[in-house]
Amino acid sequence: SVRMTRIAAGAGRALMLGPLAVRPAYKNLGIGRRLVAIALEAATKAGMPAVMLVGDEPYYGPLGFKRIPRGQISMPRPVDPDRLLSHEIVPGAMARLVGEVCHADQARIAAQIAAMA
Ligand SMILES: CC(C)(COP(=O)(O)OP(=O)(O)OC[C@H]1O[C@@H](n2cnc3c(N)ncnc32)[C@H](O)[C@@H]1OP(=O)(O)O)[C@@H](O)C(=O)NCCC(=O)NCCS
Repeated sequence: SVRMTRIAAGAGRALMLGPLAVRPAYKNLGIGRRLVAIALEAATKAGMPAVMLVGDEPYYGPLGFKRIPRGQISMPRPVDPDRLLSHEIVPGAMARLVGEVCHADQARIAAQIAAMA
């Protein structure tokens, strides 16, 4: 299973990947890596600028994910900042992702309310 959710932070938009899970009986067959590759292909085709996640760098690093600089973004609940990773699709996209991460719909509604005020 792999899921992605549209998120926003500051002026940035991205997809958050997770959960990623493979049934225990099918582990270590390359399914997890393939699911991540399919997710990245889908994100690129959808025109998304970046994919971020909370996960193990030793697993996701070889799949193209890098640590997000400490303090750049925060999550609604506490997470280990060293587990915040991203894969940039559009160069420079990650620099726009700043502050607390929320669902993209929440950011869109807040912008609409601000425009009405
Ligand atoms: C993590 C998970 C998705 C990997 O799925 P998978 O199909 O077994 O992964 P792959 O076959 O593509 O890759 C297996 C390799 O990744 C390594 N690996 C698995 N989990 C790892 C981790 N957390 N950190 C580092 N390496 C990891 C395995 O040791 C194996 O290494 P090898 O190729 O050198 O033998 C699966 O173990 C799982 O469902 N785990 C429980 C849920 C979870 O932790 N999800 C990730 C949340 S961040």
